[in-house]
Amino acid sequence: MRTLKVETGRPYNIIIENGVLENCGEYIKKVSKAMRVAVISDTNVFPIYGDKIVDSLTKSGYQVCSFTFDAGEKSKNLITVSKIYDFLAENHITRIDLIVALGGGVTGDMAGFAAATYLRGIDFVQIPTSLLAQVDSSVGGKTGVDIGAGKNLVGSFWQPVLVLIDSNTLKTLPQYYFEDGMAEVIKYGCIKDKALFEKLENENAAECIDHIIYNCVAIKRDVVSHDEREKGERALLNFGHTIGHALEKIGGFTNLSHGQAVAIGMCMITKASEKANLTEKGSAKRIEKLCKKYNLPTYSDISKSEIAKAASSDKKTNGSSIKLALLKEIGESYLEKTEISELEKFISK
Ligand SMILES: NC(=O)c1ccc[n+]([C@@H]2O[C@H](COP(=O)([O-])OP(=O)(O)OC[C@H]3O[C@@H](n4cnc5c(N)ncnc54)[C@H](O)[C@@H]3O)[C@@H](O)[C@H]2O)c1
Ligand SMILES: [Zn+2]
Repeated sequence: MRTLKVETGRPYNIIIENGVLENCGEYIKKVSKAMRVAVISDTNVFPIYGDKIVDSLTKSGYQVCSFTFDAGEKSKNLITVSKIYDFLAENHITRIDLIVALGGGVTGDMAGFAAATYLRGIDFVQIPTSLLAQVDSSVGGKTGVDIGAGKNLVGSFWQPVLVLIDSNTLKTLPQYYFEDGMAEVIKYGCIKDKALFEKLENENAAECIDHIIYNCVAIKRDVVSHDEREKGERALLNFGHTIGHALEKIGGFTNLSHGQAVAIGMCMITKASEKANLTEKGSAKRIEKLCKKYNLPTYSDISKSEIAKAASSDKKTNGSSIKLALLKEIGESYLEKTEISELEKFISK
């Protein structure tokens, strides 16, 4: 078992352990005085892992109820959240009670948002089951849903009281989603951890996944502990994402997965920063090679002007400039304030 402590306003632990699902009740007992627990999950994950969680919670003395929604991003909206609120009320979940989010990033974001807003906020525990959720979305307290105008536009910062990670769950995760999560893993190597990057180059990630998860979570923990509300350093986690988000948007969020778009974004921005002499030469080639190794795309034939236009209309952009996350070299990153009007020129070099 390995434990990482997150020092946000309300500190919490992340426990990484094989078999932690079966014992989740014991761990949760240490952080919650709840009487009732509502397990929120999706139609793929609950049938595989639901019983284990419910049994363990019941053994620990909790009254357990469960809510399952149709798997997929299409469910991450206020309609499903509204159904969750009704479910919580019908099952007499009170302020001292607890939500457990069991699933990928969609479940964590939506159950977390329901926890942040139901009765003005109740505790929740993250049990992430996808690689993306284990290395990224379950840590840091960003919760939310999509609305017609865009992804993740309604949400809240609401930290979990505990995160339980069991990499055994990845055995049932479809390969497509494993590869999707690998883009974020590569990102962590790029921005903060040269040794991790080299490990990914030299070994097979699936064979050392516990080590990888621990390293990625430690990086995210450090960054969010310093900058809980993304006022500065947290933006480093957006490496590859400015272009990635633009590509996702142009493709109507169906052509490319998030990880695929981020992989292209990391390659494109690093090529550009290398040409501008801001990044050590050869870095872009190494990132490309690594993305290809994990079956991720590295190139898009969408025009640079279309990409820049989509990036500049991003609803999260404030004012006329953006903070671009760039690499000095593999393992070391920094933020470069860039005028949006200059972005097209920068990536077209
Ligand atoms: N809050 C944050 O900081 C943050 C960060 C990154 C991404 N996100 C969000 O995360 C979401 C993407 O997360 P995701 O890729 O995990 O999506 P997801 O939750 O839809 O999971 C992907 C698919 O894998 C299935 N699945 C998950 N775990 C499984 C397992 N162990 N076995 C079998 N099937 C399994 C799910 O049912 C789903 O079909 C997006 O909505 C994104 O906006 C949030
Ligand atoms: Zn991402």
